[in-house]
Amino acid sequence: MKISVKSGGVSAASADLLVIPVSSEPSKTGNKAGPRLPQGVASLDRSLGGVIAQALASGDFQGRPDQRMLLYPASPAGQKSIGRILLLGIGDRNALTLEAVRRFGGGAAGEARERKLRRLAILAPRGRGLRAEACAGALAEGAVLGAYRYDRFKSQPRSGTVRSPGAPTTTLLFDLSEGLSGLRKSAREAVVCAESQNVARDLSNAPGNELPPAGLAREARRVARETGLHCRVLRGAELERGKFSALLAVGAGSANPPQLIVLEHRGARKGSSGGPLCLVGKGITFDSGGISIKPSPGMGDMKHDMSGAAAVVGALRAAATLKLPIHVVGIIAAAENMPSGTAYRPGDVIRSRSGKTIEVTNTDAEGRVVLADALDYAVKHYKPKAMIDLATLTGAAMIAFGPWATGAMGNDDALLEEIRQAGEATSERMCVIPLLPEHLKEMISPIADLKNSGAREGGVSTAGAFLQEFVGDTPWAHLDIAGTGWTNRRTPYHRHGATGVGVRMLVAWVRARVQQNA
Ligand code: BES
Ligand code: MN
Ligand code: ZN
Repeated sequence: MKISVKSGGVSAASADLLVIPVSSEPSKTGNKAGPRLPQGVASLDRSLGGVIAQALASGDFQGRPDQRMLLYPASPAGQKSIGRILLLGIGDRNALTLEAVRRFGGGAAGEARERKLRRLAILAPRGRGLRAEACAGALAEGAVLGAYRYDRFKSQPRSGTVRSPGAPTTTLLFDLSEGLSGLRKSAREAVVCAESQNVARDLSNAPGNELPPAGLAREARRVARETGLHCRVLRGAELERGKFSALLAVGAGSANPPQLIVLEHRGARKGSSGGPLCLVGKGITFDSGGISIKPSPGMGDMKHDMSGAAAVVGALRAAATLKLPIHVVGIIAAAENMPSGTAYRPGDVIRSRSGKTIEVTNTDAEGRVVLADALDYAVKHYKPKAMIDLATLTGAAMIAFGPWATGAMGNDDALLEEIRQAGEATSERMCVIPLLPEHLKEMISPIADLKNSGAREGGVSTAGAFLQEFVGDTPWAHLDIAGTGWTNRRTPYHRHGATGVGVRMLVAWVRARVQQNA
């Protein structure tokens, strides 16, 4: 999406849609909160015939967050043409957060997209304590995410996706006299992150028939080719030679064979020491539950059971595009979990890549089984400085945290704190929960080293404790995104479907690591 940054505020606007942030302020006389326009808008309004003043005088619009009023100016302002004006509420200006700015940008771009308008201008909101550079980034992010649609299967596209045109050409208007280079850089980088998040959304939204494990590998290769990542895919005999028995077991029921996908960004400066950062993703392209088959209502949503993998692809794409000076490796365990005559069964015992044996007590607990091999490979092959896995791992995480937070756990408090802070910075909230010795005990099998499912109690942590058995002493964190990867709730920058959760947070975390090393 093309986004430019201009100074001169609203007087520089020429667009099919001009979006103006309106805050809600308590009036000096009464207590009722009323709308307040940013500087410079009043004089623009006069030149447009006073349509804004008239609308505000109606009392219909208070400037509450995401409140909207669309206006059609009667007369053009000089040479500039402004087709429509959207008043978009941002609430209390003194309490404005970057997330509110992101939502504002999302609302603005969503409106333009909905109305098929090509030229969008957004007047940047200003809030106390918010740096203009950070605002430019949040606005750009919101706009790219808010313009996203998944409609590639509509014969007559109502609009496109990140790859086909459809997103409006956008200008961010700042009322500033100082230089814009910092703002431009911030907006440019935000566009890269948000477009990478949209790539992750495209992957997660893709139906199982469109994106089986080999399809996911093909898309990873395409992203690699476009951005200069290294990509390697192991399948069939290579997986057998590599002893990926757990991954192979989960994929055995499907006609679409499993794949281990490795994406590598070799951005480290010469002479930097230690292993890479490893990002590991669960890539179940469709989870029927296998022989322990799921009930049919909602089963179709399990096409997004590769959202962890999608976040890894998105984060690597951003790291490469931004040329971050650090070595990052993404590892994806891709398989389809199906019931069939060749499927793995309840009661089976698998000897995983690590040598640890796993008794399969429920074929629907497949994510941890494929991750066992992927984590073991990451640890032994790359000796990472730190490792994060992302997985739509348990229904229990959805019940515990809903769509509002990702469940985080691991073996390293400092790493968990880094990730929590990265999530705060990008508004991808994380709840850190413990892994207790009792959680692991629940996962010990009477006949094998581990079993893949325990009782329902503590389901998020018992899954985490299982994974911990495969990471050795590598600093590691596990993010259960079962609740946050998919949404049915519309927000200014999300609508029904995949959220692409994790991409922005991972990029923020990798960047913080770059800072630490510098
Ligand atoms: N992919 C599911 C978890 C899931 C559920 C993700 C809902 C997103 C939304 C996972 O493979 C699964 O089936 N987990 C089981 C584990 C159980 C059998 C121990 C679950 O949570 O029920
Ligand atoms: Mn499952
Ligand atoms: Zn699953």
